[in-house]
Amino acid sequence: MRVFFTGGCGKAGRHAVPYLREQGHRVLNVDLNADIGAGRDELRVDLTDAGQVFNAMSGFGDFADLDSPRPGAPAFDAVVHFAAIPCILMVPDNETYRINTLSTYNVIDAALKLGIKKVIFASSETTYGVCFAHHERKPLYVPVDEEHPTVPEDSYAMSKVVNEVTARSFQERSGIDIYGLRINNVIEPHEYAENFPAFMEDPGIRRRNLFAYIDARDLGHMVDRCLKTDGLGYEVFNVANPDMSVNISSSEVIERFYKGVEVRKEMTETETFFCIDKARRMLGFDPQHSWRDVLE
Ligand SMILES: NC(=O)c1ccc[n+]([C@@H]2O[C@H](COP(=O)([O-])OP(=O)(O)OC[C@H]3O[C@@H](n4cnc5c(N)ncnc54)[C@H](O)[C@@H]3O)[C@@H](O)[C@H]2O)c1
Repeated sequence: MRVFFTGGCGKAGRHAVPYLREQGHRVLNVDLNADIGAGRDELRVDLTDAGQVFNAMSGFGDFADLDSPRPGAPAFDAVVHFAAIPCILMVPDNETYRINTLSTYNVIDAALKLGIKKVIFASSETTYGVCFAHHERKPLYVPVDEEHPTVPEDSYAMSKVVNEVTARSFQERSGIDIYGLRINNVIEPHEYAENFPAFMEDPGIRRRNLFAYIDARDLGHMVDRCLKTDGLGYEVFNVANPDMSVNISSSEVIERFYKGVEVRKEMTETETFFCIDKARRMLGFDPQHSWRDVLE
């Protein structure tokens, strides 16, 4: 498929884009930090500027388009929107909110008005309110699935909840497929050796991430599954590894960190508290990269 991918220069995108290209997709990376140069299939765009978004999405996608038998601009088959301020405490709170909500509105609005039939966008685990809560906040129940309330306290997660509402509304009007990915903490391959020993030492560090993680390459796989699965309308999916990011059992996690929290399902000893059953069932999501391959 021909894919308009935003945020491909970032932590997640620099693994997801190559993965999608390996699967045969033709990807244009659109990013404020694009490494511009002839033939790189990257475009420098500020997505908070609707004019730039419409222009980029309706213009030539690469040099091959100059010789395309089809007149005019290419038609992208799908938009994957990852670009964002990905955390609190990077820019002022109101800027995080403004950039994330406005860019998402612009990207989905342009996609719909240009007749693109599929949009996949990055939402976040933080929508459940645990990650960036002031003081400790426990989930209402575990494992946390997509039915868990999304009432966060911080501007980043608020922007992601707003983006989900925006996407839901655009889907209602258009009837196209729009899938939101509630992504857990993204881990690049080199981070297993760098960061995971500390998680083994002190599992409590991972409390705010519900003890979960997702390998950036498996995120590419998740996007590919979304591209290949049609007809779901609007859906949100948790995205995590089936395992935890700590080396204690799920019963020990419950005993140490989730006293008093309702446990809704019988869990295996290494099962993630960030439930991915829906993505497995509806998309065939099947993550392949585990910290255990590197550290054990
Ligand atoms: N990293 C994580 O653990 C994590 C977890 C959950 C969700 N997410 C979400 O996944 C997505 C990717 O996250 P990431 O970790 O790769 O972030 P990142 O900051 O590494 O990459 C984001 C990219 O977006 C680009 N960008 C930002 N503002 C832009 C603008 N106005 N116009 C064009 N490009 C712009 C940046 O240049 C950057 O390359 C984000 O939407 C993030 O909120 C990330």
